[in-house]
Formats: sequence, C-alpha cells, structure tokens
Amino acid sequence: MADWSAIEALPRTPLVDLFAADPDRLTRYSADLAGLHFDWSKTHLTDEAIAAFSALAREQDLTGKREALFSGKVINVTEGRAVTHIAERGEGAPDDVAAAQGLHARMRALIDAIESGAMGPIRHVLHVGIGGSALGPDLLVDALGREETRYEVAIVSNVDGVALEDALRGFDPTATLLAVASKTFTTTETMLNADSVVEWMRAGGVEDPYGRVVALTASPDKAIEWGVDETRVLPFADTVGGRYSLWSSIGFPAAIALGWDAFAELLEGAAEMDRHFRLAALHENVPAIAAFGDLYYTQVLHCETRGVFCYDERLRLLPSYLQQLEMESNGKGVTIEGEPVGRPTAAITWGGVGTDAQHAVFQLLHQGTHVVPLEFIGVIEPGDMLNEEHHRNLLNNMFAQGAALMKGKANPDDPARAYPGDRPSTTILADTLDARTLGALIAFHEQRVFVNGVLLGINSFDQFGVELGKEMAKAAQKGGGDFDPSTTDLIKRAFG
Ligand code: F6P
Repeated sequence: MADWSAIEALPRTPLVDLFAADPDRLTRYSADLAGLHFDWSKTHLTDEAIAAFSALAREQDLTGKREALFSGKVINVTEGRAVTHIAERGEGAPDDVAAAQGLHARMRALIDAIESGAMGPIRHVLHVGIGGSALGPDLLVDALGREETRYEVAIVSNVDGVALEDALRGFDPTATLLAVASKTFTTTETMLNADSVVEWMRAGGVEDPYGRVVALTASPDKAIEWGVDETRVLPFADTVGGRYSLWSSIGFPAAIALGWDAFAELLEGAAEMDRHFRLAALHENVPAIAAFGDLYYTQVLHCETRGVFCYDERLRLLPSYLQQLEMESNGKGVTIEGEPVGRPTAAITWGGVGTDAQHAVFQLLHQGTHVVPLEFIGVIEPGDMLNEEHHRNLLNNMFAQGAALMKGKANPDDPARAYPGDRPSTTILADTLDARTLGALIAFHEQRVFVNGVLLGINSFDQFGVELGKEMAKAAQKGGGDFDPSTTDLIKRAFG
C-alpha cells in the first residue's frame, strides 16, 4: 500500500494567507500551454503539497506507468489490453500510430466519397451511440459546429423514443446518413435506435436503408453481420476505450460536419498536450499538477465532489463529457491488484454553465457546508458577434466568482449574510475556442485522469461497474430476472 501519511498531514493554510506569504504565488502556480492558461493560485496547492504528491508519484512509478501508456504496453490489466487512444493523435508506439493513421485515412476517404455523392444526396447526419460513443462527438459538434456546418448533425443516445423522434423531426429520410457508433456493436440502446432509424428510412421511401449506414466500431464483424457493407465500416482499435474514442472513427460526425482539417487540428492540439505530459518534469507538468490538486481535495479535505463551470455556451456539454471520463475511469473501489482501495477515489464530477449556474447552485458553493473545489473555464475570444458587453459581462462574472469564493466576507452582526471564503477554484482560460485548443483541453483532462488513477493505484481503463445493471435490464426485457418484491411490483405496474 502506498504511503499517504505525508499527504494526509498537509496543512490547510487559508488561500489569502498563501497569497500574502508569497508575492510570486500567481506566477509559480500558473502555466501557459497549447493556447490555454491554467491558474491554480486559488487552490491550496503549495510547494510542500507538490513535493508530497511527487514523492507519492515516485512510489507509484508514475513516470514508468506514463511510459508504459505511451509505448503501448498492456496497462489495462483487468481486460488484458494496451491503451492506445494517444496513438490516434500520432503519439505512442510507432505500430499503433501507423495503424491509427491507416484507419483515419480510411475514414477520410469515405468522407470524401460521401461528399462526392457516393451515398446519394446527404444533407443530414444522424449519429446513434451512447456513453463514449456519443458524448465526445456531441461535445465536438456542439462546441465547434455552431456556425455553418456542411451537414445538419443530430446525435441520439437515449433509448427513449422521444429522443429519437425529436431528432428525426425535420430530417428527410431520403437525405439522411445514419452513423451507428458502438465500440462493441452490441449495446442494446444503440442497436434499438439504429433498427428504428432503418425502419424510418424504409418507411420514408429509401429502398436500401443499409446503403445509407456507416458503422463506427471496434467490432467490424458484428457491424457487417447487422447489415452494413464492409466498405462503410470504419473500424478503430479495441485498445481505444469508449470514453477515450472521440479521436478515432467515433469522431466521424465532427470530421464530416466540420471538415477534415478541423479534425486534424483537434488531434494535433491533443498531441501537443500529450508531448508536454510525456516530457515535462512533474513539478511543472500541467496534467500532473491538476491531478495533485484533485487528490489534495479528495484525500486531505475529503471533498466528495468537484464542480466544472464553463463560462462559454459552446462548452455547455463539457461537464457531461467529463462526468463519464472521470467517474467511469476512476470511480473504482479496488486497486489494480484487486485489493480494497481503502480511500476515496474519483470525486463526483458535476457542473454547468456560467452565468446560469450562479443563479441556481452557487448559493451552496458560497455558503453551504460542502467545500466544492471548482474549475472555471472561459475563452478570451468571444463566440458571439453581439456587442462586447455580453462577453465582458460573462468573463467578469467568472473572475468575480473565483475571487468572492476565496475572499469571503465576515459579517459578525448578520451570519446569514456572511461568506466563509477560502473556497478553492482553478481557472482555465483559452485564447480562443478552435479545434486545436479543444483537443488540448480534452487531452489535458484525460492525462489528469490518468495521473489520478496511477496515484490511487487503480485501473482507470475498465468499467465493470456498469455490467450488473445491464444484465438485469436484459433479463427484465426478456420478462425474466430474479427481482426483489419492490422491483417486481414496479415492472408489473408498468407492463402488467
Ligand atoms: O456501459 C458503459 C459503456 O460500456 C461505456 O464505457 C461506453 O462508452 C458505452 O457503454 C457505449 O458502449 P459501445 O460503444 O460499445 O456501444
């Protein structure tokens, strides 16, 4: 078991005192990388904390494990696989990179063929997938495709038919391409949605609906068996985890709607973050420092959640994306050796957009009894064409929240109007929001999750926790299952 005693004994010096004691605090606790400015000065990180986490990182062989990740070793031991999403961005083991580039070339060629009319007159792209097969593409298209895109894209994940009906409204079945995104090609929600779209196309007059389908998958045989022609199957390696797959063919809707150049820029932004993560010393390694901050709050202050608030409408889907990335990766109860982990693992990630969240949940953040370490994310270049008052107002709100949470305000005569202060926040400020910067921002979070997992001694790349519920849902769907009285009654009430 790793020795956390030095970390658990770290003092909690108030943030304002940390600033008062160190005129260089801002410079020393901020960094600029890949078009992103990171400011950790309003967190409780200190040199002592970074030294303690660096010692733990040495004990847990972070640099060795980082190298194992980059060299394509089998680090997802519970599933007996390497982890190669980094190769999708051109980093990693040469063979993995070559394989990923070959598959990207195949995706690009198919997109070119679609553009030249090989699949008929396509105006709409309907992407069905769930979890990592939807959250990433949805984030990319929503963040970067707000202005004119080459195709109208809808992404449907929920098996609730309402979601599919909403998406299909306004789509012309004779001008729709269906992208079925599923690493396994067995996920019931996705396959049911895909079947229903095929039926909708057929009912809408498309003679050969499967001729309008593209499959994005690590299980090409299953896609072919389902009915997709081999030439329209875009495979990716099964060593690319679902929640890490937006860089592979799962990114198809972004690549077709935004154009290949934008997709390539996305990969390059991520690669820049990867190179930094691989080479920088721990005390100046941006994802590592961010992870040290996460662990300070979960292990020292016992914070159970962390909040991500994006002060940019284009990033409104980022908190949901990070929820899967962080909670599915590090929401584990056993170590990589299968022992009880014995300490809190991933914080519960939640969040929203500023300024909306300020008028809904920030009361608790300022005065409630929970301390929630926050991450504010803003973009300097406005995404709107309105007068500059909007953007100034937006960003000034973000800056003011971080300042107010830290400073607080005493009010001995009126406790209801007092603010305890000393509430931590990190700010990430992007120069602009383009594909390259977004790629770097997402890769930063991935590498930060990796460091968290290594220091906690867990496997960040499996997700067995989701299986039991899936099995029981399948049993219920077949009319069977050994259910408790409450669940049996609920099923009976719903279906008789
Ligand atoms: O149930 C969880 C999960 O396996 C995620 O890890 C994954 O992103 C999602 O389901 C979808 O899986 P698939 O891409 O195989 O359809």
